[in-house]
Amino acid sequence: MQPPASQASLTAHILADPLNPFPWYRVMREQYPVYYSREFHSWFIARYSDVQRVINDPLLFSSEQSIRSRPAARTQPTVRTLLWTDPPRHRQLRSLINQAFTPRTIANLAPRIREIVHSHLDKVAHQGQMDIVSDLANPLPIIVIAELLGVPTRDQKQFKLWSDIIVSPARQAKKQAVIEMNTYFQQIVDQRRQQAQDDLISALVSTHIEGTYLTDAEILSFCRLLFVAGHETSTNLIGNALLTFTEHPAVFEELRAQPELIPDAIEEVIRYRTPIQRLRRATTVDTQFGGHHIKAGEIVSPILGSANRDETQFINPEVFDIHRSPNRHLGFGHGIHFCIGSSLARLETRIALEILLARFKDLQRVSDVPLEHVSSSFVYGVKNLPLTFQRC
Ligand code: HEM
Repeated sequence: MQPPASQASLTAHILADPLNPFPWYRVMREQYPVYYSREFHSWFIARYSDVQRVINDPLLFSSEQSIRSRPAARTQPTVRTLLWTDPPRHRQLRSLINQAFTPRTIANLAPRIREIVHSHLDKVAHQGQMDIVSDLANPLPIIVIAELLGVPTRDQKQFKLWSDIIVSPARQAKKQAVIEMNTYFQQIVDQRRQQAQDDLISALVSTHIEGTYLTDAEILSFCRLLFVAGHETSTNLIGNALLTFTEHPAVFEELRAQPELIPDAIEEVIRYRTPIQRLRRATTVDTQFGGHHIKAGEIVSPILGSANRDETQFINPEVFDIHRSPNRHLGFGHGIHFCIGSSLARLETRIALEILLARFKDLQRVSDVPLEHVSSSFVYGVKNLPLTFQRC
């Protein structure tokens, strides 16, 4: 791969082939590790150590200010969600949410996740063909989050519609969906205040630290965040896993023979095809970074997908190796904003893969159908992945 003639063409190359930005990330790591992208008005940070530095320094690289600088945020004041707050507010919010979103809450979901996976695979088992994205990877996380929050089953179709709109680029429709979701969640919050049930919204309503409770607006924004953060990401992880395994068919056989290797294989998929490719921060003061002067308020974008292929951190980073150890990928972030849903994403993906491998063999990609990349430059994933298979 020849390096581009100028830095200016780097972002264009990455955008031109969103399923394979990796050779260009390497050029960045080697030649332009701190790179200003005019297309994105952002400083791209490509090396593992620099990415870690940025995400571990919320005082200098602020999440809150990075969202404030978006054009939409200037016209409509939004309630700060966990993802877009800085300390000290972030610490308070995160401790409150952690009390409701516990490892036990997540582990208890396993039997229900199994049921959902089986019922979706039952629908396609006789066909010998399915689209893993629309038939399983897409519906599974939405149903799980809806049930976790306590949304009645009859309303889950509506949720699918809302969450599809929220992750799409349609701005006006997005605004409307947010208003409708808020109205909907407000009713559930009011009901749970009257009568608590065994669900996450009831836990969020009652959780407090020394008498400080989450406000209604904070609960609503967290519910919306869960839908967006917890839906597309897990969907893409499952899709990326199947895409990668079909390229490495021996892995299917190895995992079928030794399902205990599935968790390590999932970590390697997160490293190799990182579902959230890059993050967003803004500098709080003028700073020197990697030999560049970055002014206060500029956007800095650490590229997790590049850090996860950094040759100073991983041996043969371009090789997909489920036995990689250690595997200190940054796919769930690092530091104070480390993904709160990582155990849920791992659980959903592990169960989905275990059941797929136990029920089906000879899983192969229908190679003459072109893959469509999801429509976001922050996210890595496919919208479709048709597979053929035999029943075991
Ligand atoms: C934060 C990745 C699944 C909820 C993050 C961050 C990353 C990430 C990289 C850090 C963001 C930053 O530093 O700016 C992923 C990936 C997932 C996944 C790759 C699946 C493969 C989920 C799920 C949920 C979730 C299933 C919830 C059900 C959150 C929340 C935050 C977060 C609430 C914000 C935490 C904070 O700001 O303190 N995630 N995520 N994520 N994630 Fe995930």
